[in-house]
Amino acid sequence: MAESSGTSGNPSSKENEELNYHYATLLVKECTVELGWRDLSKDFVMDVGCGPDFNCCNVILKEFPDVKYLVAIDKNESVFDDIKIKNNKIGWFVGDMLKRETLSHFEGKIGKVISANTIHRIPNKKLFFENSHHMLKPGGEVAFLFIVDSCYHNFMVALLKVEKFKSMYKGPFNPNMYSEGRRSQYYKQMLEEIGFRNVVAKEIEKKYPHPSDEEWKDSLYEGYKNVFDIPPERVDEIKEEAFQIYVSRIERYEGSPCYSVLLLCLFGLKKKVETTVL
Ligand SMILES: C[S@@+](CC[C@H](N)C(=O)[O-])C[C@H]1O[C@@H](n2cnc3c(N)ncnc32)[C@H](O)[C@@H]1O
Repeated sequence: MAESSGTSGNPSSKENEELNYHYATLLVKECTVELGWRDLSKDFVMDVGCGPDFNCCNVILKEFPDVKYLVAIDKNESVFDDIKIKNNKIGWFVGDMLKRETLSHFEGKIGKVISANTIHRIPNKKLFFENSHHMLKPGGEVAFLFIVDSCYHNFMVALLKVEKFKSMYKGPFNPNMYSEGRRSQYYKQMLEEIGFRNVVAKEIEKKYPHPSDEEWKDSLYEGYKNVFDIPPERVDEIKEEAFQIYVSRIERYEGSPCYSVLLLCLFGLKKKVETTVL
């Protein structure tokens, strides 16, 4: 899960995979609306935090088969252990957007930097944006999609207020990960301070109702089981209690348990080099 075990914020891993692809599709679609993407035949596109599925690369290849070249970047080299997509328009590279020296090869050469479903887990977002700006050539664009609020996060906050869950919790947890002051205006201003032009910040709220209580109970459990030390004989009790906390305090939509998330799409342009007419 985005907030607990590292994916998109929804419980089971299969749902996570689907959501990751869905978010990448949403972002690329927004690029056509907000940035007017039509023809990428001259563009070198960098997908940062590509993950093992290369979702943004895949969606771009599907929507823009003429794209010049895509490079998938991830700081975790194991995501490239078993590359599922083989296409001569996609290259991959181990690099960390927070460590500019690891990506120095690309500085000033990239036409578009895109990143879906990665930035919410990066505490120093400004550095990520600054380094993305550095990768771009003049006139290049960035397109980011990340979570700015999630009911799953609120669920974890609620669970960790209960002594039973708190005492079993294994990991670090930042209850202020999605502060209310850090929404579209905050990040728009951040990009402008870095030097981006034509900045657009668009919030999109998504609700995913789940038809079955039993499946949702299992789904939730799949999401949190690795961050709690749950003795096997207590699994059923914990599942039930966590589920009751979720549906009574967090989210139900039209009677069904529901996963809701607030996404931010953020776009910006690197200034073109000014030419002086004599
Ligand atoms: C949720 S996963 C994959 C998301 C992927 N964009 C998708 O749509 O499926 C986020 C990925 O970002 C990578 N990542 C996190 N911080 C990074 C950074 N500073 N630079 C490069 N990759 C990073 C992680 O290793 C992880 O593989």
